[in-house]
Amino acid sequence: MEIREQWRSRWGFILAAAGSAVGLGNLWGFAYRASQGGGAAFLLLYILIVLVVCLPVLVAEMVLGRSTGNSALLAPVKAAGDRWGILGWLFVIAPLGIGSYYAVLMGWTLDTFFHSLFFGLPADMSAAKTFFGSISSGSSVLLGQLVSLLLTAAVVASGIRKGIERISRIGLPILFGLLLILAIWAATLSGTWEGYRTFLLKVDVSQFFNPSTIRNAFTQAFFSLSLGIGIMVTYASYLDRRNQLPKEALSVASLDTAVGLLAGMITFPIVMSFGLKEVISGSTVGTLFISIPTGLGTLGVTGRVVAVLFFALAYIAAITSSISLLEVPVSSLMDRLGLPRSKAVFISTSLLFVLGIPSAMNLNILGKMDSVFGGVLLILGGFLLSIFLGWVVPRKFDEDLAGCNSDQRVRRYLKFMLRWVSPPVIAFGLIVSVIDLVQNWSS
Ligand code: TRP
Repeated sequence: MEIREQWRSRWGFILAAAGSAVGLGNLWGFAYRASQGGGAAFLLLYILIVLVVCLPVLVAEMVLGRSTGNSALLAPVKAAGDRWGILGWLFVIAPLGIGSYYAVLMGWTLDTFFHSLFFGLPADMSAAKTFFGSISSGSSVLLGQLVSLLLTAAVVASGIRKGIERISRIGLPILFGLLLILAIWAATLSGTWEGYRTFLLKVDVSQFFNPSTIRNAFTQAFFSLSLGIGIMVTYASYLDRRNQLPKEALSVASLDTAVGLLAGMITFPIVMSFGLKEVISGSTVGTLFISIPTGLGTLGVTGRVVAVLFFALAYIAAITSSISLLEVPVSSLMDRLGLPRSKAVFISTSLLFVLGIPSAMNLNILGKMDSVFGGVLLILGGFLLSIFLGWVVPRKFDEDLAGCNSDQRVRRYLKFMLRWVSPPVIAFGLIVSVIDLVQNWSS
């Protein structure tokens, strides 16, 4: 067997993990969920869930990967025996489900980018709708999806250091730079304060009890952190003992949350400045692809430059996420069947393409895939992970963290949270989310 590859450096791992976390979920999902009426209640719940529940689970995922040195499919079995094989399967099936429709969203993003660059922006809402109709149906979706998958496959096929680590090192700083520039620009718009206020600062206490707001906050926290389904297991399996995982987890979560907020500080001022509130509050998957270009379309050349930059940064963010989704099945095939990387990439990419065709053809299916694979399954995975490392193999958690000299108080705190706080809180989130989802579907 080949020797397992390793990250070149600590920052290489952090940037790759942050690259996985920062993606369309931050740019599009955050704005989309924040605009569904939760306001500041959504934001607070989301941040609270990240701090209290997700951080310990994030460390748990990393510990599972590093201590077993195995891919997501095999790590649970290696840690606790065959009975836990099913958890490994969840870790592989969920990224395949997400990866399938993620490539479709990437295709739309790419299309919008090229359109803004070469043809300009739609002049009004109806033109924008026609445009979105054209990118989200017919053969152009399949093309965008295919191109995005091929680019993703090319990176993953180049391996951990030369592929994933390298693109994250280059991509993330560019992405941050662009985000900052655009957020500063957005702060000068006429509707800036109105935008921040309406979507991020307005506290409506009753929203804390709204099941949809709760589901949105849980989903956003888990989806945005790429948490609960073996991504971090996989990435951490390429780590050595020198890293103190709690610190890395904190860096990843902070970078990710900062990007979500910055993205909101770009999209909401645009939405408010150009009177698009009505469009966005009934938000569906495609809203940002309609409202952002329309808003920017009224600004002439400046708007076009902003649109090109925004969709370029969205695409960079998306690639560093989709490679993590592909790496999970790829590394699992390599470990389980001993396939070479190139073959594993070919098989997994083909599978993702075929699985994504229904979502490419039908927006409704895409939304449903997102609610199940990108929503409840992640929360379920997070629940199982906290039970697994908190109760089934707690010694692994201790030993692994103790072996890297992490602060003892931090370790005790994390273990306490993982055992006593995360399971009940996530179980609550899971139950509320499933009920809310079933109600939404049947209404
Ligand atoms: N976190 C990414 C985003 O915000 C998407 C993503 C990549 C993801 N890998 C994941 C989501 C694993 C859930 C699980 O766009």
